[in-house]
Amino acid sequence: MKIAVLPGDGIGPEIVTEAVKVLRALDLKFDIEEAPVGGTAYDAHGHPLPDATLKLAQAADAILFGAVGDWKYDKLDRPLRPEQAILGLRKHLGLFANFRPAICYEQLTHASSLKPELVAGLDILIIRELTGDIYFGQPRGRRVAPDGHFPGAEEAFDTMRYTRPEVERIARVAFEAARQRHKRVTSVDKANVLETFQLWKDVVTEVHQDYADVALDHMYVDNAAMQLVKEPKKFDVIVTGNMFGDILSDEASMLTGSIGMLPSASLNSQRQGLYEPSHGSAPDIAGKGLANPLATILSAAMMLRFSLNQPEAADRIETAVKKVLAQGLRTPDIYSEGTTKVGTREMGEAVVKAL
Ligand code: IPM
Ligand code: MG
Repeated sequence: MKIAVLPGDGIGPEIVTEAVKVLRALDLKFDIEEAPVGGTAYDAHGHPLPDATLKLAQAADAILFGAVGDWKYDKLDRPLRPEQAILGLRKHLGLFANFRPAICYEQLTHASSLKPELVAGLDILIIRELTGDIYFGQPRGRRVAPDGHFPGAEEAFDTMRYTRPEVERIARVAFEAARQRHKRVTSVDKANVLETFQLWKDVVTEVHQDYADVALDHMYVDNAAMQLVKEPKKFDVIVTGNMFGDILSDEASMLTGSIGMLPSASLNSQRQGLYEPSHGSAPDIAGKGLANPLATILSAAMMLRFSLNQPEAADRIETAVKKVLAQGLRTPDIYSEGTTKVGTREMGEAVVKAL
């Protein structure tokens, strides 16, 4: 089992260190190799995704990724910014299926900004298409506006596009995932305005014919954003495009109390996967031992389940995480009165102990 470990920037290295400790505490044999990515890689090698890092990632069964990004790189040309590392990995490895579960742990019900009764027991899965849409659509760029409201003015443009096979394959991923859960899929689109999402809706509806045991409904993205805070438990699996999925998955994560708890998986058609916490690099708290390593530890569990075919080891990690929460251990992001505040390393070591 070859794992490429890419810690990245900000809190990335601290949280990944704890997840690797947890992996090493399992009685399994891994071949773990680390490489720089993001701003750290730019500083050392002049590029956020150096060739050697990409090669290591391509040769691995799975990638454990920390986070990338820091304000200090905001002035770099776009191709050199840290974010290009994750976008490049998604593109080069064809990681089109992004799983972002939003689960509200029993002990954290009160950490949510919503009323506890709205989120208690929440368990939704957002499936975000990850290699198409306006993120990657060409053409894009800056130019002098040829027409529109201000012809001749400076203009920037991006292109939203999806092909039928791209929508088909992500729809299948969603229906298959729903079969393992509560058998409900909500496809989120903007078909009332956008051609791209009319095609999306049509194709999802067609693919649904192969999954008669799964219920499908369609929702416009603005309404979905509203329903997520109104009645989040109504959802089971949400499937949507790259841009809407980016936004809705951040929204959904906050329902659970802390984005610091949420893992994610990005898979290609060979089930090779990149596993990363749903949160970012949080440069403001980097190096202080304040970051919550649980999202990364839970991402390692997803990795064992989806790419390494070790579901029992995945269960063990998830059980250990529940145990440390039940013991009352909390990093600052999920702390509340009456619990015990711990740092990144203590939290990681508590999970190892619970294993
Ligand atoms: C995410 C992030 C990325 C995205 C950024 C860092 C490029 O926000 O994974 O959700 O927009 O996809
Ligand atoms: Mg995002």
